Amino acid sequence: MQLTPDQIAQYDRDGYLHFPEFFSKEEVEAMRREVSRVSRIESEMVVREGSQEIPKIMFRMHESDGETASPVFHAAVRLPRTLGMAQQLLRDKDLYLHHTKVNIKAAIEGSIWPWHQDYGSWHLDGIERPTMLTMMVGLDASREVNGCLYFIPGTHVIGRVDPYFDTSTAYKVWSLTPADMKRIITEYGEPVAITGKPGSLTVFDCNLVHASGHNLSSHDRWQAYFCYNTVANRPRDVEKPRPDYVRSRNWKPLETVADNAITQAAMAPA
Ligand code: SIN
Ligand code: MN
Repeated sequence: MQLTPDQIAQYDRDGYLHFPEFFSKEEVEAMRREVSRVSRIESEMVVREGSQEIPKIMFRMHESDGETASPVFHAAVRLPRTLGMAQQLLRDKDLYLHHTKVNIKAAIEGSIWPWHQDYGSWHLDGIERPTMLTMMVGLDASREVNGCLYFIPGTHVIGRVDPYFDTSTAYKVWSLTPADMKRIITEYGEPVAITGKPGSLTVFDCNLVHASGHNLSSHDRWQAYFCYNTVANRPRDVEKPRPDYVRSRNWKPLETVADNAITQAAMAPA
C-alpha cells in the first residue's frame, strides 16, 4: 500500500493518520485468538492489573522466539500494508521494532495512561533521533467510555518535552507535567478522541502527545501497538537498559511477507 502525497502531508501536519477499515474481519479474529491464548501465559512479558489479574500489557508477540511469540503477530508487523507504510513514513527501508504490545484495558478496572510522548521513554532507552512511529490496531471497537486514546493533533512538531516519572499509574510512564499539558492544550487545541471499529489502524509520530482514560464500560478494550524505528537509529548503550521486550536488541531489518500472511499463519498447524 502506497500513501498518497496528500496523506503524507496530513501525517506531517497532524502527526497521525487514521484508517477506519484496515484489517479484515478474519485478520482481526486471528489476532484476537492469539491475544486470548497468550493472555493465559505466566511471563514477565504479560503485565497484569485489577482484581481478576487480567493482563494490562502483553509484550513481544511479534518475534519468532520467546514465551509470547505469535506467528499471527509475526506476520502482522511485516505486511506490505504495515511495514511498507512505516518504511514510507520514516523514509527508510531498514526498520526494526523497538517493541510491540497488546494493551487489554479491562472492563471497569482498566486504568489510565497519563499524557505522554512515546519518545519521552524511548529517548531514555538511548535512541538519539525521533525517527519512530507507532501503529495502533483496533482489536475491539474503541470508544470514549472504554478508554480510547486522545491525541493533541500537531504536537509532534514541538519535539521532546522533558518528562517526569509518574508513579501514580498502574504501569508507570514518563509523562508530561500538568503545567506543560495546560500550556500545550492552550496552544494546540482540545484533545481529539481516536475512536473506531475493530480492524482500524492509526499510525502516529513518536512525539505526538497522547493519553487514554479509564475503561468505564462492561467490555474489555483490546488494542495492539507496533513501534517501528530505523535500524540506523538503534539505541546506543545506556546504563541499566530496560529488558529486551521493551527495548529490543533485535536490530535486523524486518523483511516483508505476503499481504495475506496473517490468515495463512492462522491456518498453519501449531
Ligand atoms: C500508550 O499510550 O502507550 C497506550 C495507551 C493505551 O493503550 O490506552
Ligand atoms: Mn504511548
